[in-house]
Amino acid sequence: MKISPSILTCDFSRLADEIKFVEQSGADMLHLDVMDGVFVPNLSFGPPVIKRLRGLTNMCFDVHLMMQYPDRLIGAFADAGADIINIHLECSSPVEKTIDHIIGLGKTPAITIKPATPAEAVFPYLDKVGMVLVMTVEPGFGGQAFMADMMPKVAAIRKEIDRRSLKVMLQVDGGINEDTAVTAAKAGADVAVVGSALFNSPNPKELVKKIQDITF
Ligand code: DX5
Ligand code: ZN
Repeated sequence: MKISPSILTCDFSRLADEIKFVEQSGADMLHLDVMDGVFVPNLSFGPPVIKRLRGLTNMCFDVHLMMQYPDRLIGAFADAGADIINIHLECSSPVEKTIDHIIGLGKTPAITIKPATPAEAVFPYLDKVGMVLVMTVEPGFGGQAFMADMMPKVAAIRKEIDRRSLKVMLQVDGGINEDTAVTAAKAGADVAVVGSALFNSPNPKELVKKIQDITF
């Protein structure tokens, strides 16, 4: 399994050090949670912060846009150095058009679904995206409990990806630790977003390695 640490629960007063910490942990990519205070009841950071972080590391930037109108800032996120630009299927931007915009800028598009959105909703987009993210908490905050009842949805999307022989990554986000990562991998997820479990871990490198060693 691949691991994409979320910096949402990091110490933002030491952001540069926290980025180095993630890099040195051996993680595969960096998950950046962008919140607009409208789509979710919380605010985080945007393109200027990501642009500065881009100067610190070569890690793949996996940008999760929890925004009502992500299309308005796709260009800004691409310029800031995002690699994967991930929009929610439940947003108010035209999804297909926004995906095409991301592709046109040479970036990898991804789509996310919230807990109430069914697996089938992503099927029409599987040919175009590089990754699908199944939320395993309601988006908006780190440190929430993993929703195991999302696993049939992960399994249904995995089945469809494999049936169509696609190379789409299947990510889970919310409440992931070394145990819930195993549960998610068994259901078919191959990328784990890990926030608080990594930043609170007494042995982050070991946690990263344990998750990377999970086979499915
Ligand atoms: C939640 C975010 C997640 C979150 C993960 O809205 O999308 O990326 O920060 O944090 P943990 O691992 O603490 O649930
Ligand atoms: Zn996220």
